Amino acid sequence: MAEGEVERTPGPVVALLIGMAGSGKSTLFHRIHYEAAQTGKRCYFINLDPAALEVPVEANIDIRDTVDYKGVMREYSLGPNGAIVTSLNLFATQFGDVMDILDERTKEFDYIIIDTPGQIEAFTWSASGQLIAESLASTLATCVVYVVDTPRSRSPATFMSNMVYACSILHKLRLPLVAAFNKIDVQPPETCFSWMDDFEAFHVALDEDDSSEAYVTSLHRSMSLVLDEFYRVLDRVAVSAATGEGIDNFWAKLDASRLLYDETY
Ligand code: GTP
Repeated sequence: MAEGEVERTPGPVVALLIGMAGSGKSTLFHRIHYEAAQTGKRCYFINLDPAALEVPVEANIDIRDTVDYKGVMREYSLGPNGAIVTSLNLFATQFGDVMDILDERTKEFDYIIIDTPGQIEAFTWSASGQLIAESLASTLATCVVYVVDTPRSRSPATFMSNMVYACSILHKLRLPLVAAFNKIDVQPPETCFSWMDDFEAFHVALDEDDSSEAYVTSLHRSMSLVLDEFYRVLDRVAVSAATGEGIDNFWAKLDASRLLYDETY
């Protein structure tokens, strides 16, 4: 290998789909499955949402085959969120077996796509979520795809909250992060992108938005300067899980995240 060249991690790219409830993770999971079949991309699908009523595609590995979410609620007298975290904990104790399967089959797939629970913090702030992410990243090029609900990020204040959350996930999981601006069939992503590229444009939008108190606007201004650094390491792609628009670029972003993973880990 030439001097300075980075060694490429063998095997597929792992994409952990993470996002606010309703951002479109499961629909994107479904869309990726469909597009992969159309274009011959070799994908392996894992569902980590124990509370999913329906998984729109048959996942190769499904947490629900191992852990009975409703049974966990009853057995441990837990509410819905506690039961999701406990189910993930139970599954995490067996994640070594999942890693054995993935390590054995690395040559068979280009991408491993993982759907995570609707309640974002159940994965990002739990010990089991961290353990699962670290296990994957220990041998496979792993990235987080942070799914953004673009129509709900129309206002500068909501956009900023979403980006602060994405930033916290980067710090917590320390993996390459691709922000997938979803639902572009409803709301084009250009405004959000312009705010990411130019904090002055964001400040103008803040000034024009009269829904926030003055101190909140001032806080948002300061935060946007901090986030400016974050945006430099954040890759982004605009997609519609509903129509399939942008999915070509989505694959390209996963490939690019492998390069970042190889340089960083
Ligand atoms: P949780 O499992 O609750 O976290 O939701 P999720 O993030 O998996 O979102 P889900 O895929 O269930 O989508 C939420 C809603 O958004 C559904 O009504 C979807 O049909 C809709 N939706 C998802 N993606 C798109 C999109 O690209 N365009 C449009 N118009 N609607 C979408």
